[in-house]
Amino acid sequence: MSEVTDERRWRAAEITVSDSRRGVDADDRSGDVIVARFALLPADVVNRKSVADDIEEIRAAVRQCIATADVLILTGGTGLGPRDVTPQALVPMFDYEVPGMAEVMRHQGLQSTPHAMLSRQVVGVTENCLVLSLPGSPAAVAECLDAVWPALPHALALLAGNTRHPDAASPAT
Ligand code: MTE
Repeated sequence: MSEVTDERRWRAAEITVSDSRRGVDADDRSGDVIVARFALLPADVVNRKSVADDIEEIRAAVRQCIATADVLILTGGTGLGPRDVTPQALVPMFDYEVPGMAEVMRHQGLQSTPHAMLSRQVVGVTENCLVLSLPGSPAAVAECLDAVWPALPHALALLAGNTRHPDAASPAT
């Protein structure tokens, strides 16, 4: 786990995107993996939602979450299925993308399965909130979080206006 580069606690939100999980705010394994990881950031979970694979539903949930969160992580809907629309919902909402974080997650996934290249997961910033979309499976979520974790505290510190560079000698894990 990365060394924390900022003393503050962050505000975090999670959205599960899945037709089958819609409206179910508990007992979601992928969402639980994300929420458990937030505690280590450290972050307080200020919002948690489950929505269908529907562009407008996803955008409405994102708008609610970014109003109070510093970081938002979505899981699901990144594949090639006809109902997989999470990237289409998110990209137009971004002020800018953070392609390196999406790339490193796909790279990490490829160590486990060639199917990782099928995830169109995206990362971006909207209204100063860092938004990451992850694939739907709990294993994929854990791997993706492992991949971005070393840079997450510094990313949030930068968005909060702390432009101090972390010690280059700090361990990355
Ligand atoms: N990434 C990792 N790290 N591990 C995985 O098992 N599964 C892939 C991919 N990314 C996977 C992964 C599979 S099988 C699919 S279809 C895509 O994510 C999209 O998943 P989603 O539609 O649930 O978002």
